[in-house]
Amino acid sequence: MKNLARSITTNQVGIHQNLEKVVLRHLNSESQKPLSEHTKEAYQAAMEWLGDWQGDLILDSCCGVGESTANIALAHPNAKVIGVDKSAMRTEKHHVYSAQTNNYLIIRADLQDFLRLLVLEGKRLHKHYLLYPNPYPKSAHLQRRWYASSTFADIVKLGGDFEVRSNWKLYIEEFAAALNIANIQSTVTQVQGNTPMTPFERKYWESGQDSWKVTATLSKA
Ligand SMILES: C[S@@+](CC[C@H](N)C(=O)[O-])C[C@H]1O[C@@H](n2cnc3c(N)ncnc32)[C@H](O)[C@@H]1O
Repeated sequence: MKNLARSITTNQVGIHQNLEKVVLRHLNSESQKPLSEHTKEAYQAAMEWLGDWQGDLILDSCCGVGESTANIALAHPNAKVIGVDKSAMRTEKHHVYSAQTNNYLIIRADLQDFLRLLVLEGKRLHKHYLLYPNPYPKSAHLQRRWYASSTFADIVKLGGDFEVRSNWKLYIEEFAAALNIANIQSTVTQVQGNTPMTPFERKYWESGQDSWKVTATLSKA
């Protein structure tokens, strides 16, 4: 029997009342948090892999086992794709999904620090995927969500065609609201199709849950 995914339970009704305040605070300040050594090393390894690459760079943030990273790489043979996840348990399982292409790399790193380093080095993205990030549905956990953290400013600065997916519609609506606060237009739609892009998407669909996405073109700052 299939392991069904539980649907989201939350004590939050509608867009969080503190969203605007929190997003503006992060957009108007620089993160002072020291960067972790292990992410600095992972970043260095990623830069060595990229070498003097000047072409399109695509990021698959919170890539889990990297199934989506491999498929994105196959669909974009002229780009280089990096999948980032902090869980070694997930990234080490990647070999199961390895695609017949070598234009991608899966690395274990903390996303917050990894994006910070990309921004500090002036990198820009062609596309950026954030597929099924942990939703933190408790109202009190607003600031653990990516759009209500210091990482949101870095996501905006990195630019590119941006896509976030979630099985929690309010997460997607709040992401769109955060983008709007940053003066960025976005589109919210239900994810359609028969072929799941990630293992979590597959699990949600097999459990009868819908999933949602927000897409936006982030300017090349
Ligand atoms: C719900 S899973 C989704 C994984 C994959 N995208 C999928 O759809 O199958 C969320 C992922 O985010 C990763 N994650 C959470 N916080 C992170 C962080 N600070 N840096 C990097 N990865 C993180 C977790 O390790 C986990 O693999």
